[in-house]
Amino acid sequence: MEKISIVISGSGSMGREVFTATQSAEDIEALAYLDPLSELNELDGLPVYQDAQSCFAKEQPQVVIDFTNAAWTPNLAKEALQRNIRLVIGTTGHTEAFLTHLETDSREKGVGVVLAPNFAIGAVLLMSFAKQAAKHFDAAEIIELHHNEKVDAPSGTAKKTAEQMADARGSAFERTSTENQTIANTRGGEINGVGLHSIRLPGLVAHQEIIFGGLGQTLTLRHDSTGRNSFMPGVLAATYAVISLDKMVTGLESILGLE
Ligand SMILES: NC(=O)c1ccc[n+]([C@@H]2O[C@H](COP(=O)([O-])OP(=O)(O)OC[C@H]3O[C@@H](n4cnc5c(N)ncnc54)[C@H](O)[C@@H]3O)[C@@H](O)[C@H]2O)c1
Repeated sequence: MEKISIVISGSGSMGREVFTATQSAEDIEALAYLDPLSELNELDGLPVYQDAQSCFAKEQPQVVIDFTNAAWTPNLAKEALQRNIRLVIGTTGHTEAFLTHLETDSREKGVGVVLAPNFAIGAVLLMSFAKQAAKHFDAAEIIELHHNEKVDAPSGTAKKTAEQMADARGSAFERTSTENQTIANTRGGEINGVGLHSIRLPGLVAHQEIIFGGLGQTLTLRHDSTGRNSFMPGVLAATYAVISLDKMVTGLESILGLE
């Protein structure tokens, strides 16, 4: 079997995790790291390039897997797509303008891109199940739990889940207000009538629970990422899928057959 050759953009926690995942994927070969902020020439036995042009002058990957920073991905995407190199992008925080440009560039060049804000297959399934349940319940709350160094709250995944739940039922959820909230904010935030609660604690990784409430019953859906390796099956699935794509796909849903 011919191996899929990749370059790993980013040598941080996720980039290193991608390298580890490729070590046990017999059909994927990592050629190099590309990281403008790295001071290393070599890491994990691979060369480390600091700029995309010199990287792609020496290495001819079929796919670049990017886990870096939204400031870097646009430059990487431009350099990759013009060389017919496909992209799997996990970096978060992109502007709408960049996403629109990337979608157009990918389609016009006929070069596949998979961009997913969450590569954990369980988290993608959780959102899919939540959309199903949303049609049958009028009230719901989301509790998202992350490590204490996460800079934003609520998580992007929690916001997207709430939005998709409201879209699926075609209207906002119903949420009663509390007459006497003796400590401010204890009812949490709210999107489309869905209550949102963000918990930040050392020891946590990434977790999300959705509780639906109805007449005489509740339904609880929960997903736990207990380590960064939880993202890797999704990253590998996207890498296999992107080879035969000629446009950009956002999210893992279609790759997992959930649409
Ligand atoms: N899609 C998902 O499922 C998923 C999961 C986890 C993390 N992420 C995202 O992946 C990205 C990386 O996460 P991480 O935990 O590996 O972070 P990290 O801080 O450990 O590593 C970041 C890497 O990006 C590089 N980098 C940082 N700023 C840069 C810049 N301005 N230009 C070029 N390179 C830069 C650093 O050198 C480093 O190699 C983040 O955007 C994070 O939100 C996505």
